[in-house]
Order: sequence, then C-alpha cells, then structure tokens
Amino acid sequence: MSVLITGGAGYIGSHTIVELLNIGTDVVVIDNLSNSSLESLSRVKSITAQQVTFYEGDILDKALLRKIFSENNIEAAIHFAGLKAVGESVEQPLKYYTNNVTGTIVLCEVMAEFGIKNLVFSSSATVYGDPASLPILESFPASATNPYGQSKLVVEYILADLHHSDPSWNIACLRYFNPVGAHDSGLIGEDPNDIPNNLMPFISQVAIGKREKLMVFGDDYATPDGTGVRDYIHVVDLAVGHLKALDKLKTNCGLVTYNLGTGQGYSVLEMVKAFEKASNKKIKYDIVARRPGDIGACYADPKKAKIELNWAATHNLDDMVNSSWKWQSQNPKGYSD
Ligand code: NAD
Ligand code: UFG
Repeated sequence: MSVLITGGAGYIGSHTIVELLNIGTDVVVIDNLSNSSLESLSRVKSITAQQVTFYEGDILDKALLRKIFSENNIEAAIHFAGLKAVGESVEQPLKYYTNNVTGTIVLCEVMAEFGIKNLVFSSSATVYGDPASLPILESFPASATNPYGQSKLVVEYILADLHHSDPSWNIACLRYFNPVGAHDSGLIGEDPNDIPNNLMPFISQVAIGKREKLMVFGDDYATPDGTGVRDYIHVVDLAVGHLKALDKLKTNCGLVTYNLGTGQGYSVLEMVKAFEKASNKKIKYDIVARRPGDIGACYADPKKAKIELNWAATHNLDDMVNSSWKWQSQNPKGYSD
C-alpha cells in the first residue's frame, strides 16, 4: 500500500516523504514542479536510500490522477499541492482559486471514484485571521484576509461538506503555523524561487550575502519588542505530524482539525538574534512600515494534537535556525547548486 503525496517535490512535502520512507511506507508523488525542482526528490533518495514513484503533472489533470490511482495501490493522500504566495494571490485570485480549490475538488473526485477516502490536507493558521486572543484554539472563528487564505478556508468548508455527505471519508485538516528549518543532513530545505516572502528564508539569504539587509515590517505592534510574533515550527516536526495524522485516519476518525505549532511565539528580532548566533554573521536590518495584512502576534495552542495525535514539536529555536543555516550554507543557490 502507498500514500499519494501531491506537491511532494516542495518544501514540506519532501521532508514528509523522508519521514514516510524511514518508516517503510511506499510513496507516490505528483508534482507539476511549478514551485520546486526534481532535485529535491533526488536528495530525498540520497538521505533515505529509497526511491519514490514520481509523476510529473498537475492535480487538475483528472486523466493523470486516474492513471496514478489505477497504477498504484494507494490507501491515502497527503495533499500539499498548492500555491502559497499571499501577495500573488491578491494580484491573481483566479489562479489561486483554480489551483488550490478546483485542484482539491478534482483530487477528491478521483479519490472517491477509486473508493480511497483518506485525506490529509495542508491548511494554515492564516484561517484564524486576526485572532481575538492567544493562544489560538482550533475552535476559534475562521476568517481570511486574502485570496490565498480564502482558498484554504473554502477547501476546509468543502471537505466538511464532503464528509457530511459521505461519513466514510476520513479527513485531517492540519493548520500549520510558521514552518521553518531543514532536514538535519542539510540536503533538503526551503528553496524560494524569487525574493522570499517569508522571514526565515529572507534572513538566511542576508546571512549568505545574497541580500543586503532585512526589512523588518513594523516595530509598533503590541508585542514585547514591537515586532511581529509568530509560532515557528521545525519542518521535520511538521512532517512527523503528517505521519500521526495518517495513523489517526486509520481509526476512522471522520473529519478532524489540528493546529500544528509549538505554542511558543518569537518576535522578528528574536529570530534575527538566533540566526546571528547560528551563522556567526551579522544580519543587517532596517525597520520599515508594517506589511499590509500582517497581524501582530499569532501562536497556537497545540494541546489538541498532543492529546488526539500524540504529537508535539520536539525541535527548539536553535534547532530551527541551525538547520536553516546548514541548508543555506551548503546550498547557497538552493537546488540549482
Ligand atoms: P511548496 O511550494 O514548496 O510546495 C508545494 C508543491 O506543490 C510544489 O512542489 C509545487 O510545484 C506543487 N504544486 C503546486 N500546484 C500544483 C498543482 N496544481 N499540481 C501539482 N503540483 C502542484 O510549498 P510548501 O511550503 O511545501 O507548502 C505545502 C502546502 O502547505 C501548501 O498547500 C501550502 O499552502 C501549505 N502551507 C504552507 C505554509 C508555509 O509557510 N510553507 C504554511 C501553511 C500552509
Ligand atoms: N517579516 C519581516 N520581514 C520580512 C518577512 C517577514 O519583518 O521580510 C515579519 C512579518 O511581518 C511577520 C513575521 O516576519 O511578523 C513572519 O512573516 P512570514 O511572512 O514569514 O510569515 P506570516 O506569518 O506572515 O505568514 C506565513 C505564511 C502564510 C501562512 C501563515 C500561517 O506566509 O502563508 O504563515 O501559517 F498562512
């Protein structure tokens, strides 16, 4: 039996595949390589000495999905494939709704045709909008402030309706907080195509000399040092969370939703300091205006995942920044090195 990984050549997918292969699970990947390269999967092979079955193509391609389900004995899918750049989603909302929402619908239709009704979905803490209080519980009201966030929220609603219409579906919506870090080997990591939107890859590129300085978006939030606070979670912890979610599906859990975070928030300036220590480099920065749409602070209450999935993050901030720096310094140009 295999697990289908959509978007498996990407950042979180590649780390999850390593953990799956390490426990002896067969993996089938579909990825259109729109935001990744095949090199990540060849690195996965170097780490695990195991191979995945790879299909290059789009989840919107129903015929290809049918072929994949016909040719493999798939028992569940982990659905990472999606576009994730918030700014781009504001410029090109239809692209985001088509890829993220229609793509998920097509995947679910083909899964249903083949009687495979076990799904783990990559959701996001963005579905909490600007929370009224902290830490954030799964029961908090959902909202979204941009088309990317809306696409995640709409998919969550669609999956809830799907489960309601056919309770034999088992679906885990995992709401990731801020994934950072890289595999211990330094062989796989986050490899943004363009100028990084996210803090950690930006800081790493300043440390390696690719960018001159970091722009810190605002120092007037109601946080201890005024800069934005987030719940950074090591990507390997996140990957392990997916294995736990697959175990949960096997208990016929129905529709479940979990926060995957550490419960601990760090500010932008704390991240800068930690990265300076890891890299032994000075990170130059300027304080600039707030980024539109940003919130001051966001961190999870991860207790539900602890109790129901027996999952908790084990990597601390040093692990996150040290592994990021190892990946960045060993691969200054990412996978194109
Ligand atoms: P990523 O871009 O590295 O990986 C996504 C992968 O999906 C890429 O390899 C891309 O080529 C592929 N893909 C995109 N659209 C596709 C399509 N239509 N058909 C086939 N393949 C397609 O991103 P990631 O950081 O690994 O994120 C994985 C998932 O987690 C995404 O759905 C993202 O929205 C979600 N998520 C990410 C974060 C984060 O900060 N990284 C936070 C919350 C949620
Ligand atoms: N930040 C800067 N400068 C930068 C980049 C970020 O100061 O160049 C600050 C932001 O203002 C924020 C913090 O660093 O305070 C983290 O920003 P990120 O862009 O790394 O992460 P976000 O919390 O804004 O958003 C991320 C993903 C979203 C996802 C959300 C919750 O980009 O897609 O986490 O999972 F929805």
